Amino acid sequence: MTTVSEKLLTRAEETGTPGPAEPPDRAVPLLSLRGVRIADGSDGREIVHGVSFELTPGKVVGIVGESGSGKTLTCRAALGILPPHFEVTGGSVEIEGTDISTLTPTRWTALRGATISAVFQDPASYLNPSLRIGRQIAEVVRVKKGLGRRAARERVLALLRAVHLRDPELVHDQYPFELSGGMLQRVLIAAAIAADPRILVADEATTALDVTVQAEILDLLADLRERAGLALVVVSHDLAVVAQLCDEVLVMRRGEVVEQGPTRAVLDDPRHDYTRLLISEHEQYGLEKFLGRPGEES
Ligand SMILES: Nc1ncnc2c1ncn2[C@@H]1O[C@H](COP(=O)(O)OP(=O)(O)O)[C@@H](O)[C@H]1O
Ligand SMILES: [Mg+2]
Repeated sequence: MTTVSEKLLTRAEETGTPGPAEPPDRAVPLLSLRGVRIADGSDGREIVHGVSFELTPGKVVGIVGESGSGKTLTCRAALGILPPHFEVTGGSVEIEGTDISTLTPTRWTALRGATISAVFQDPASYLNPSLRIGRQIAEVVRVKKGLGRRAARERVLALLRAVHLRDPELVHDQYPFELSGGMLQRVLIAAAIAADPRILVADEATTALDVTVQAEILDLLADLRERAGLALVVVSHDLAVVAQLCDEVLVMRRGEVVEQGPTRAVLDDPRHDYTRLLISEHEQYGLEKFLGRPGEES
């Protein structure tokens, strides 16, 4: 089976045309959350009151909702990286059929990056300010892929090209402070896909970026899904992002999933007042453009 970055890199290097898409493996979900509850262990307060969804190859699940509604905690639970004191107190998270609560630290280390990976907001805080970009991604490639120095360099350059950074050779030798927010976010995506994950969690990955760069990053994610069957969890407080990218959407409010379903159904025919409120708030940002509502020229 061809991996995410292989397909991407092939395309980026323009060596031949991509073949027909492989039939997705629908047997075991890549990621499955069932009634996940998360509590703050310091006071026992439950913060997330049951989240369920299933991710199959190429599927994109969106989580929307106001700030503080539990979107990031849900992602962190799926990645096994809840903040200190927080714990999953109910339900289960399975990655490729394995309940993550049974994973040893060693197994987790093997899974992270290689099976499930993530990109968060504020890319600068995830990079070491004193190391050149190339070296930071090379570290992932060398550890996860076991490549030698030269092969790692080649792969890093190809990854930087694959996320559409214009001058990969230059970026390779630059420090984080020399890059714009949009470039840093691309670098983080390059690092996140460096080990060919099957699942990518993008938590507000485009929130801090201006609209144009945001659109470019979303295109890039859509591309990864299309070309390589990458499954995505996309968290955003922006309904337009979800309308553009997601097959299924979960609307969260105060730790509760108030509405969930196919994106079109939820956005065209919302059942919950809170979803309706979110939609009306976003109407002015051109949601119709993404939905292509009947009666409107596109
Ligand atoms: N590291 C943390 N320490 C203390 N409280 C936290 C922490 N992370 C999240 N919370 C609390 O948990 C709730 C949900 O947070 P979060 O999942 O980050 O929301 P969202 O991503 O939807 O904005 C919030 O009320 C927040 O204050
Ligand atoms: Mg968040």
